[in-house]
Amino acid sequence: MPSSRLTPCLLLPLLTVLSGCISHPPATSSNALARPASATQDGAIPADRPGAPIRATSPATAGTPARVASPAPRTDCHKAKCIALTFDDGPGPLTSGILDALEARKAHATFFVLGPRAQANPAIIQHARDLGMEIGNHSWTHADLARMGQATATRELTRTSNAIRRASGQGPFSVRPPYGSFVQATPHTGLPFVLWDVDTEDWKNHSSAVTTQRALAGAHPGAIILMHDIHPSTARALPGLLKALQGRGYTLVTVPELLGPMSAKKAYHSSTVRR
Ligand code: NI
Repeated sequence: MPSSRLTPCLLLPLLTVLSGCISHPPATSSNALARPASATQDGAIPADRPGAPIRATSPATAGTPARVASPAPRTDCHKAKCIALTFDDGPGPLTSGILDALEARKAHATFFVLGPRAQANPAIIQHARDLGMEIGNHSWTHADLARMGQATATRELTRTSNAIRRASGQGPFSVRPPYGSFVQATPHTGLPFVLWDVDTEDWKNHSSAVTTQRALAGAHPGAIILMHDIHPSTARALPGLLKALQGRGYTLVTVPELLGPMSAKKAYHSSTVRR
């Protein structure tokens, strides 16, 4: 029975208990169009450390959290079975094909992009926007925000937001911290954090079949599914995965459509909608 569940939003002070949720994948670079500033000589983004903990370093912030503007939803996720597919670490050479697959199924998704790649590929960002996709901020260097000073982390995010804004005339709606790792004091961007509750581990399995199986096994109304638009196996999986999810009655929406208005002081793993 499809009640949607999950702890929709996790107040930042509670983040210490969430380390079990974290397994953010490494961005590989074999198909990267643009190299982040901290890329290694072969272009690789510094390897992820799956399991990097989310840490809270300061007490809860009092007061009413600021609300973040959200576009008018095309789908009422109180009525429809909604799922948000998310793609991290691009845009890259595979992103346009992924956009084509989404467009062919009249599906929408969210792309959490790296600043240098957004800067190098503004046409892809703009095309994604034109198709109704949402663009989020995945930092500039793909470094662990929890392991840098607040000023540096803020620069990482601000620089990326500016690149997204320059590419498409509109800034990102949220941040997905690399590795799902951040500290309460990190943000200073006025943006909420969006994580996930279904991890396909496409970065690790490099298998269209396994990626599809993991997405379908975790699918539920309100789910946020993590994938990457830089892996060929993910791009290959997408047409079949979209067909399978839609065949099960799911509507594929962007994260803002799924979550509705968000608070800049919260982190989200899935929808709060109860069905
Ligand atoms: Ni990433």
